[in-house]
This record gives sequence, structure tokens and C-alpha cells, in this order.
Amino acid sequence: MEVAHNQWAIFRLEGKVAIITGAASGIGEAAAKLFVENGAFVVVADIQEELGLKVVASIAGPDVDRAIYKNCDVTVEKQVEETVAFAIEKYGTLDIMYSNAGILGSTDSILDMDMEEGFDRTMAVNLRGPALCIKHAAGAMVKRQVRGSIICTASAASVLGGLGPIAYNTSKHGLVGLVRAAASELGKHGIRVNCVSPYFVATPLATSGMSAKGINNASGIEAVASSAANLKGVALKAKHVAEAALFLASDESSIYLRARQRAAHPPATPCRHRSDDRRRPPRRAR
Ligand SMILES: NC(=O)c1ccc[n+]([C@@H]2O[C@H](COP(=O)([O-])OP(=O)(O)OC[C@H]3O[C@@H](n4cnc5c(N)ncnc54)[C@H](O)[C@@H]3O)[C@@H](O)[C@H]2O)c1
Repeated sequence: MEVAHNQWAIFRLEGKVAIITGAASGIGEAAAKLFVENGAFVVVADIQEELGLKVVASIAGPDVDRAIYKNCDVTVEKQVEETVAFAIEKYGTLDIMYSNAGILGSTDSILDMDMEEGFDRTMAVNLRGPALCIKHAAGAMVKRQVRGSIICTASAASVLGGLGPIAYNTSKHGLVGLVRAAASELGKHGIRVNCVSPYFVATPLATSGMSAKGINNASGIEAVASSAANLKGVALKAKHVAEAALFLASDESSIYLRARQRAAHPPATPCRHRSDDRRRPPRRAR
């Protein structure tokens, strides 16, 4: 992919340094490409090394230093810490942490849930992982007085029961709590913490979830998503979610206190998260 350096282009992340976890595939891959197109330097952090290196090769273009791969299992604190240190050593600072890595995890019912292999593993990747990413990215930002942006990929399953397996659903509900709590704590340092909450996007994660229902391809997943969505005639793609993350990563969102992320949403579901709800003025008594 050619990085679009023409004089009319607006580089919304010019010179910023970002880590994107889960960037070897799906939404993270789309975000890595979009962030680089917008002038960022990106650490592609994942556990799928071969795919990650391919992503880097595909986005590097003539400017080979724009993206670099770092193996990072987000459940392992030392690896997350090392990834933050790696970004700073390579690019000099850290402005953006996009904690996006996630798994569908166990599809067990609550009635026969394997608590360790099923529940705990899902929580480790989808909730402990983002907590570690926030901890170490924010630590580096505070130390360097960087007014950074931290973004997590939650899900429509963070506001609706039954939209995914129970462990996944629980982890994404927890993630929104983590984002809210971290936002309220880190705001005093000028650090923003937000999440995007996509509905179905045809990625390997979604395909693994839908294959049990006999749906194995992107068009099948998009048809299911579109049949439930309010907004007809469009299929939610990884790029759309990446665009929401781009906004949150950019300085355009730096005074946007009531961020609403809507990548797409199922009927009657206000798929939004305000990480600064507590700043809302109290409702006037009637
Ligand atoms: N696809 C959807 O329909 C959908 C909907 C809502 C939310 N999400 C969320 O979007 C995020 C990205 O998922 P996707 O749909 O792009 O799926 P994907 O499977 O294409 O990408 C997930 C990436 O995370 C990586 N990963 C998994 N475990 C990891 C670990 N321990 N450490 C580091 N990396 C790890 C994988 O290797 C993979 O590259 C996830 O958090 C997911 O829950 C996806």
C-alpha cells in the first residue's frame, strides 16, 4: 500500500507514535494502515508474528520505518511493558495506545462453563490485556507529560446481553467499566480514554463465532449483521471502526468530552460509551 503523501492530504496523526494491539488482523490491521496513512508511526503488536510482519510490509511503502512489528501477548504484563518501552526507544515517545486485541473465547454456556480455560482466558485477553495496556501506556505518558489518547475496542456486546458468548459478553461489559474508571483517573494528566463499540464485522473473530451457525464467509456475516441493524444498505467494515479510532486518536477529539462511538448498532441499542459520564451536569429535578 502506498502511503498517500500528497500536498492536499490531511495527516490527522502527523508524527504521532501509536501502539495497536491485535494489529495483525481485522480491525487492528485496518487501524494500522489508516494510522500510517494519516502520518503516524505504528507498532503492530500481536501474537501472530507472520501475519504481523505481512501487515508491516504492506503498509510500510517507501517509508519503511513507519510501522514495525512487536510480538506482544497482552495477557503478559512484562510483554506489554516491553512493547511500550520498545515504541519509545524506536520512535522517541508514545502518543496513542489502541488496545484492540481480543478473542471470542469460550462459547460455553454458564451452566457448564470451564472457569479456567474458558472464562479466565477470555477475561485475560479481553479485560486484563486492556488494563495492562492502559497501565503501561498511561504510565509512560504521565512520565513524559504526553497528553495522549488511549482507545479500546469494546463491542455492542458491552451493552447487550446475548450478543455473544457469555464470557465474551462479560469481558466487554467489564471493559467499558475499565475505560470509564481509567478516563476519570487519567483526565487530570490530560490523557483521554475511550472505546469504540462495533457490531458485527466480518473478521476472523466474527467468522469463528458464526461458523457454528453455518456462516463462514464475509457476505454471510454482513447479511446477518445488516438484517439486525437499524441502518440499512451498508455493511460495517473493519475500516469504519478504524475511522472511529482515528478520530479518537487525533487531536480533533482532544476536547471532545462527550464522545459517542457508534460504529453500527443493533435495533434499539444506544451503542455508546461516554467515558466521562460523571462530568454530565445533574438532571434538574422536576
Ligand atoms: N469482528 C467483530 O464482529 C467485532 C465486534 C465487536 C468487537 N470486536 C472486537 O474487535 C477487536 C479486534 O477483533 P477483530 O474482529 O479484528 O478480530 P481478529 O481475530 O481479526 O483480530 C484479533 C487480533 O487479536 C490478536 N490477539 C488475540 N489474542 C491476543 C493476545 N493475547 N495478545 C495479543 N494479540 C492477541 C489476534 O492474533 C488477532 O490478530 C477485538 O477486541 C474484538 O472483541 C470485534
